[in-house]
Amino acid sequence: MAKELASLMKNELANVEASAILQFDKDISQIPGIVKLTLGEPDFNTPDHVKKAGEASIAADHSHYTQSPGLPALRQAIAAFLANKYRAHYDPETQIITTIGASGAIYASLTAILNPGDEVIVPIPTFPQYLPIIKLNGATPVYIDTSVDNFVLTPEKLAATLAAHRDKVKAIVLNYPTNPTGVTYRRAELEAFVAILRQYDIFVISDEIYSELTYGAPHVSLGELLPDQTLLINGVSKSHAMTGWRIGYVAGPAAVIAKVGLVHQLTATAAATMAQEAALEALQAGPDDGLKMQVEYQSRRDYLVQQLNELGFTTAKPAGAFYVFARIPERFGHDSLAFAYRLAKEAQVAVIPGSAFPAGEGYLRISYAASMTKLETACQRLAAFVAAN
Ligand SMILES: Cc1ncc(COP(=O)(O)O)c(C=O)c1O
Repeated sequence: MAKELASLMKNELANVEASAILQFDKDISQIPGIVKLTLGEPDFNTPDHVKKAGEASIAADHSHYTQSPGLPALRQAIAAFLANKYRAHYDPETQIITTIGASGAIYASLTAILNPGDEVIVPIPTFPQYLPIIKLNGATPVYIDTSVDNFVLTPEKLAATLAAHRDKVKAIVLNYPTNPTGVTYRRAELEAFVAILRQYDIFVISDEIYSELTYGAPHVSLGELLPDQTLLINGVSKSHAMTGWRIGYVAGPAAVIAKVGLVHQLTATAAATMAQEAALEALQAGPDDGLKMQVEYQSRRDYLVQQLNELGFTTAKPAGAFYVFARIPERFGHDSLAFAYRLAKEAQVAVIPGSAFPAGEGYLRISYAASMTKLETACQRLAAFVAAN
């Protein structure tokens, strides 16, 4: 009986697989003494002042629903944060929805805009989660493989892909700083994209969740450069080490946000009240909390990139987020899953195989959201493994 019922389920789910990253992480977590550089989560704790705001919310019995788009004060704080940091101006009343993490914002945004048969341009490699959501909505991802251009989307490829798909394309998903490569785009590059994107009636889903973790130059948002077409996605998960609190948001044109808000309402009603109050404190009293962590991430990045390069793993120097995307040296072959399992079993170092990302085969994603001590241990073990093989 159960088997028959399972065969009656939504067709699109047949094309959707569970997260390869979470599966790999689960598999290797059993290995005793393993050093994990796998997950994309800050190793920092949520700042104390933010935790206290969460505790105070619970103590004050703020255990009721909020308005579906989120507490008005939180939406005002989000609007102020986006305006002050990124010159992106949104009306808190009509242009911002507080969601369950950035994940909730991605799901609500894509679900609100996609019809079956639509196409969505996705530069790859990228955060894999967009793809099943696109497919669940009956739409099709159209990939732009950036691996041949040092993982940088070029205006030429963007223009050519849009032109070739102009009949069906509904949206493009951009993520920068990019998971898994750490590549980010500066103002001039974004302006070149904007000049092209303006020529099409398409949505730009701009996932800027790593915006506070850029190295070298401040982040520039498409919320500033292309507000009429952009659904700007962000949240406090990475900027304030608050992944478990599950607070993200989406900002965009009012008429579009109204519909995105409907999907959010139907799936979540509202984000958790105490988590919203903690996020309010984070954005209002600690808008620069992320910058302190960013300094630490930057020195870890420099250390890791240097070590990897010395061991023969070539990497582009990542300019944001907390990942290094490293090419496996030729003599170890191209099979990243096999290499990552070997490394986990023989050297007790866990990294994500590039094959977890489309166009990522032959690479490893190494997260430096881990203490310097862990990074040093991992690099020593990797060096011993490389020397022995
Ligand atoms: C690019 C990108 N977007 C969104 C998310 C999800 O963020 P959240 O935990 O706020 O749902 C992640 C998490 O790793 C990510 O890497």
